[in-house]
Amino acid sequence: MNIWNGEHRRIYMQEVGTRDGFQSEGTFVETRDKIALIDALSNTGMAKIEVTAFVSPQAIPALRDAEIVLREIQRKPGVVYTALVPNVRGAERAIDARADELNLVMSASESHNLSNLRMTREQSFNALKQVATLARGAGLPVNISLSCAFGCPMEGDVPVSTVLEWTRRFIEEIGARGVTLCDTTGMAYPRQVADLTAQCIKRWPHSEFTLHFHNTRGMGLANVLAAIDAGADRFDASLGGIGGCPYAPGASGNVCSEEIVHALELMGFDTGIDLDALIAASKCLPPLIGHDTPSQIVKAGRRLDLHPLPADFAAIRERAWQRDSPERARG
Ligand code: COA
Ligand code: ZN
Repeated sequence: MNIWNGEHRRIYMQEVGTRDGFQSEGTFVETRDKIALIDALSNTGMAKIEVTAFVSPQAIPALRDAEIVLREIQRKPGVVYTALVPNVRGAERAIDARADELNLVMSASESHNLSNLRMTREQSFNALKQVATLARGAGLPVNISLSCAFGCPMEGDVPVSTVLEWTRRFIEEIGARGVTLCDTTGMAYPRQVADLTAQCIKRWPHSEFTLHFHNTRGMGLANVLAAIDAGADRFDASLGGIGGCPYAPGASGNVCSEEIVHALELMGFDTGIDLDALIAASKCLPPLIGHDTPSQIVKAGRRLDLHPLPADFAAIRERAWQRDSPERARG
């Protein structure tokens, strides 16, 4: 495929702003505001929305209202409402609140797994195995998000063989329907992304792979394009580009949903997203979180959102024309 011509190829966008975004905010976003924002996002064309996380409220106080939010949003048919789950306790809560899918999480890096989840990777894996059994019993599909798949802020490079082995265990031992390769702190670069994406899709062609990038070093969009070139069609992104793991040093925002959609639509991909509705939703964020977002599209507008001519434009043009035909001015 020629990456520069999307040829209407479908790209599935998955919104993570109300989970990855809000988890890192100092301000608690009111429950009713979270619900209203998710309802607005449901009407933008997102394939999946990661509504919240069923984690310890001591670890992530910002999402302590997970049950109410997931129960009270209006479900739009066709949208998958998923929730992040780190352990059996979280899975029971998420199933009870009627999640459509459980998004399990662990890290490819031992240091980050211990910092974030207080377990060794092997302990996490065993917990996830139990969670998957619970999910199966409830008839729910399981996705597993592998943090630090492109590098760990404490350990550095994570060997590709390690990432592939965890992916194998998720798919073959746990029976996960999908795996998300997460670039938790923006360490991924396009060449690396293309290599890992191509290897995963080739080896497990029937699994659903998602790429989850953070724009910490400005490589987010380049990484999305590299992944598409290697065959990926599913991306996590956050409204306004907010986000970040509070237990990963140096973490900052996800790739910004409206920036990615804006770019992909210009390239001819079909994201299924109503960009106007998405930008409108993004403009609701600053009052909720108490600061501006990194969104370049909210700051600059879309490419063809034009600006008025200068106020003295007619006079400028008249003077320019006079240079060509002075008689016209005299006449
Ligand atoms: N939901 C709600 N409460 C939970 C919970 C869950 N999923 N898992 C554990 N808890 C509670 C326990 O009941 C216990 O509460 P208590 O102190 O009132 O008895 C407390 O949290 C500690 O439980 P414990 O099992 O000892 O967990 P821990 O302290 O080792 O923490 C995690 C492990 C995974 C629960 C916690 O680190 C966590 O939630 N991390 C999530 C981090 C995250 O979301 N990071 C960003 C996204 S990648
Ligand atoms: Zn993330």
